[in-house]
Amino acid sequence: MADGYVLWFTGLSGAGKSTIADLVVARLRARGAPVELLDGDEIRTHLSKGLGFSREDRDINVRRIGWVAGLLSRHGVGVVTAAISPYVAVRDEVRAMTTNFVEIFVDAPVDECRRRDVKGLYARADRGEIPNFTGVSDPYEPPVAPELHLRTTEEDPESSAARVLAYLRERALVA
Ligand code: ADX
Repeated sequence: MADGYVLWFTGLSGAGKSTIADLVVARLRARGAPVELLDGDEIRTHLSKGLGFSREDRDINVRRIGWVAGLLSRHGVGVVTAAISPYVAVRDEVRAMTTNFVEIFVDAPVDECRRRDVKGLYARADRGEIPNFTGVSDPYEPPVAPELHLRTTEEDPESSAARVLAYLRERALVA
């Protein structure tokens, strides 16, 4: 059985993680590859229901995603995750518990995310209605040495997704 892998998208809310992750998953499925998407918002309505946004709760959330990703990747599944996962330390923990961890920094300046404000959350955070909002009143620690660095102000989601697929082919993780 071929090795699995984990495409771990990380970045601010609104940076483009889910958009690119969805495109990558669609492309992989179209090739018939076994792939599972663990999206941050989805996980929080099921696996992590009830958790908040303190550092402790975020770390628990990220470890849960990492644990599931570890199980699946060990059994040859390609896993795609898209949670903010703001802390270096717990991302490194997850790297250690999964097979072929690929850290993908989805990079957009906070002002650009605020301008996009897809979910209207930055406006609410700026009004002080959402405490501990990542990038506004809570930290985001960028990856130190990500396998891929996608700047979503400089390339469109299709190009970013194409780079991710090219990387997987280079590493011989997909045919
Ligand atoms: S993580 O920090 O634990 O990785 P996760 O990706 O699961 O975060 O959830 C982030 C999503 O929750 C955001 O995209 C946004 O929709 C919502 N959200 C609600 N409150 C906050 C907050 N205080 N900080 C960041 N995102 C928040």
